[in-house]
Amino acid sequence: MTTADDRAVREELLSQVRQRVARGGPRDEVLKAICRLLHDGIGHYDWVGFYFVDGSREMLRLGPYVGAPTRHVKIPFGQGVCGLAAQKRQALMVPDVFKVVNYLSCSPRVKSEFVMPIFVRGEMAAELDIDSHTLDAFGERDKDFLEAVAGAVAEIL
Ligand code: SME
Repeated sequence: MTTADDRAVREELLSQVRQRVARGGPRDEVLKAICRLLHDGIGHYDWVGFYFVDGSREMLRLGPYVGAPTRHVKIPFGQGVCGLAAQKRQALMVPDVFKVVNYLSCSPRVKSEFVMPIFVRGEMAAELDIDSHTLDAFGERDKDFLEAVAGAVAEIL
């Protein structure tokens, strides 16, 4: 696939995400539909899900997702890639999860991961977590795209 095709796919997906947000409905249904769009739309997104941030308990709680079931339904800040992103309040791109010391594995098939925080009025409200079965699957194009998705999702959190 060429870079131009790649960009077109992401632009189309982003437009579908925005339309789904605009159409409204129960929040978790909308979030699940967005997981489905991203999971089905981009080949290397093998698990797509949201974690909600409970700032007072410094805890992440699993929200809607598409992909294999995970036992990591609650993640304390600081633990794993998701907990580290919450603690640092920043996106984390992990090209090789086997090199992360306190990695929380969902499946032995996962090789790389991307976590994008979602901010609402300056507070971190959630994270969008993407796992890939491909090593070093994520790049700048994912960062820009997922930042835009996070901006759209922030409207309903
Ligand atoms: N791998 C994550 C845990 C969540 S699962 O990928 C769904 C982590 O290390 O925080």
